[in-house]
Amino acid sequence: MRVCMIGTGYVGLVTGACLAENGNDVWCVDVDETKIAGLKEGRIPIYEPGLEDIVRRNVAQNRLRFTTDLKEGLADSLFVFIAVGTPPMGDGSADLGYVYEAASQVGTLMDGYKIVVAKSTIPVGTTARVQEIIREKLEERKKSDIDFDVAFCPEFLKEGAAVEDCLRPDRIVIGTGNERTAEFLKELFAPFVMKENRFYTMSIPSAEMTKYASNAMLATRISFMNELSRLCEKVGADIDQVRVGMGTDSRIGSSFLYAGLGYGGSCFPKDVQALIHCASSNGVDLSILKAVEEANREQRRLFIEKIIGHFGDDLSGKAFALWGMSFKPQTDDMREAPALTIAEALLSRGAVIRAFDPVAMEKAREMLPGDGSVIFCDDAYDALEGTEALVLVTEWPQFRRPDWDRIRELMKPSAAVFDGRNQLSPSRVRALGFAYYGIGRA
Ligand SMILES: NC(=O)c1ccc[n+]([C@@H]2O[C@H](COP(=O)([O-])OP(=O)(O)OC[C@H]3O[C@@H](n4cnc5c(N)ncnc54)[C@H](O)[C@@H]3O)[C@@H](O)[C@H]2O)c1
Repeated sequence: MRVCMIGTGYVGLVTGACLAENGNDVWCVDVDETKIAGLKEGRIPIYEPGLEDIVRRNVAQNRLRFTTDLKEGLADSLFVFIAVGTPPMGDGSADLGYVYEAASQVGTLMDGYKIVVAKSTIPVGTTARVQEIIREKLEERKKSDIDFDVAFCPEFLKEGAAVEDCLRPDRIVIGTGNERTAEFLKELFAPFVMKENRFYTMSIPSAEMTKYASNAMLATRISFMNELSRLCEKVGADIDQVRVGMGTDSRIGSSFLYAGLGYGGSCFPKDVQALIHCASSNGVDLSILKAVEEANREQRRLFIEKIIGHFGDDLSGKAFALWGMSFKPQTDDMREAPALTIAEALLSRGAVIRAFDPVAMEKAREMLPGDGSVIFCDDAYDALEGTEALVLVTEWPQFRRPDWDRIRELMKPSAAVFDGRNQLSPSRVRALGFAYYGIGRA
């Protein structure tokens, strides 16, 4: 089947490549000329495990192509996916400008029947507006006889495991008011859910809400554990032991129960905000989600307070090693990364940062000051040279079992370790004479 994917970012590129992997002919379209030029030359613009292989293979087999020309992408495509960004606006609502622009371009250029599927995360009512925009454009062109359908298929992939999630999703939600569209989409996605027929067809508003509800629930679990971690520190309990004790209850499950530096990334912060905004525009007060957001902010603030509590408010002349910059492991995505908040807090107090991340260095350079106050290091040990503290921000697996003898030689003798993800052994750290601060550990 022929597919046009509008937006070749984390979602569009992965979904486009996975659709090609399952035998479809896919055009990935983007307005970013540099990105498309790079992809045509085999350069993958994001780090995502397994993505490079799958892109290379499908490009070589002529099932995956890249263009900035939407007309070329649309030409023979039955399915048109919209996977452009929906970043937050100042008031917390989702910026739908990119989605509506894509819809307008589709209406301006399409010349035959299409199924237009929104994949971006969008508030209830947006898919209906996409339909109106396309219809208006066709009317302007006096082409109202061109038929099309719309649907909303939320994307649930996790960055860092996106290819695996996309190829083997837990379920596929199809939001449509139309049996024919549901059948077409089931045919397209059938190879992704071969073992079990895990399609959930529902109304478009329910599907739009499902995506926000899912992210809001996951964010809630994280904030819940983060709040509990603060109490654990006060009463002598250990949040990781509590997590295991709770998570093994089949009613609860073990995912998204890790206390740490709070949720970040391009989805949870903006989706929680957008849902709160949507609710308040509809006269509904989502008090639980407001508390989730507040707990998330507070978690970062309290972590920074631990550092200041140890060193005092003036950090001038002190060097801090930051291990991990991306918002989570196995991705280079720096959007809303805790590392940015922590770096800003340290730099504003006069500290120097020595930063290392296995894959996010390039993106980190774009987002952190280039005035020499942040030194981008070659590896995790280089980052420790002459530092007063190690701040472990992202739980990359390679940070879990470091060479402590080497660390002792590199860092100042009275150094402290701030373990934002409970990855290190407190007793091992303290045995070296370093102070240790974790999250929710007594
Ligand atoms: N990143 C995730 O993990 C994830 C997971 C699930 C859902 N989502 C949702 O998917 C959507 C996309 O997220 P993303 O992380 O892939 O964003 P992204 O910023 O990585 O990619 C968006 C791409 O769309 C392109 N674009 C914008 N307008 C365009 C247009 N008119 N025509 C063609 N291309 C255009 C941009 O140049 C960019 O390359 C968002 O709504 C997001 O909330 C993201």
